[in-house]
Amino acid sequence: MSTTLAESNTGQHSIDMGELSPHTKGPSLVDAAIADNCVVLNWHDGSRASFPLLWLRDHCPCTRCRHPLTRERLFVPLADIDEAPQTTLVEGGLRLKWTDGHVSLFDSVWLHQRRPDNDTDLASELTRIRRPWSANFTPAHVTHADFMTPDGEHQWLEALLRDGLVLLDEGPLADEEVSRIATRIGPMRPTNFGARFDVYSKPNPNNAAYTAIALALHSDLPNWRQPPDIQLLYCLQNEAEGGESIFADGFAVAEELRKEAPEAFRILSKTSIDFRFQDEEQDIATRAPIIELDDEGQLKEIRFNNWIRDTLRLPLDKINAWYAAYRRFWQLLHDPRHQIEFALDQGQMVAFDNRRVLHGRRAFDPNTGKRHLQGTYLDMDMLESRLRVLKRRI
Ligand code: OGA
Ligand code: ZN
Ligand code: ZN
Repeated sequence: MSTTLAESNTGQHSIDMGELSPHTKGPSLVDAAIADNCVVLNWHDGSRASFPLLWLRDHCPCTRCRHPLTRERLFVPLADIDEAPQTTLVEGGLRLKWTDGHVSLFDSVWLHQRRPDNDTDLASELTRIRRPWSANFTPAHVTHADFMTPDGEHQWLEALLRDGLVLLDEGPLADEEVSRIATRIGPMRPTNFGARFDVYSKPNPNNAAYTAIALALHSDLPNWRQPPDIQLLYCLQNEAEGGESIFADGFAVAEELRKEAPEAFRILSKTSIDFRFQDEEQDIATRAPIIELDDEGQLKEIRFNNWIRDTLRLPLDKINAWYAAYRRFWQLLHDPRHQIEFALDQGQMVAFDNRRVLHGRRAFDPNTGKRHLQGTYLDMDMLESRLRVLKRRI
């Protein structure tokens, strides 16, 4: 019986039930009873939870309800459950026999982890791991050689999700190294600037980054419905005078704005404005607030890019207040105590969360030497995925 349970509930297919291995340790069940269309469970650690019968039927892990190879759900919850299945505790878990004869076996630890009131499990890993920058924040560094090991890559990913920024040191001065690094994590996210772009001063630029001017703090591509999540910038040449990189934690600064100037925060988070990029080939536009919040009022995203802020289309009586709020946020972001600044070394790569951390650079003088960065973007989904996969291995 316990073998069947291990295979059906956990098995070698940990794809879906990621954190649960066949040997997962945790509290076992004391008893099970049916009440109010729920199974009420008590575990040996004193915890107690109710699971609706329909929920249990829907989560049956048997090979008729989940594909035996992909572990994806085959069962479709089309009918309500109006019955009292036979409930038995078996070694390692709970057995339900439904009136139609179907048998569902649930691992007790799997159920324990999914107690409906266990809300620590509901926050996403990203929300849990994220830490705002403190006054003396210094970014984590991982060497290129370490990054090539599962431990090093794991460290790099954790720092990136935690701080929204991480440095990779001592990489080779090789064309496309940024693409090789990116594709270890996931497919490069293409944009109108290509899947992989070169940053140097170009003769006929369609973007401020492709000049030698200073770049004030900004996020890339806020004119897209979904701007790229993670940006990688790999430094191949940095011999020009100037061109130091600048970063600020947009979330930390927005929280400060929320405290110090709640009205400015309210305006920037409630007012959608237009962002638009146009060149010979493209015209990409969207309307969104500068500070985006989730349903609970937590920060979700910062869109900040003064070059491609489009015509301000707001009711007459809202315009001046919006500018005042924008100015306040701009000043806080550019306050030296919120910024970190460093010159990228050749062979160094910075990775940052483009929807949280703002980036910029000092002007450089192209007559004093060459400056060349190669960049690409990644989706956060792939970073989280990679982190989960590496955790399985480490
Ligand atoms: C960019 C950018 C920064 C730099 O390419 O989007 O902001 O240091 N570049 O050149
Ligand atoms: Zn089943
Ligand atoms: Zn940029």
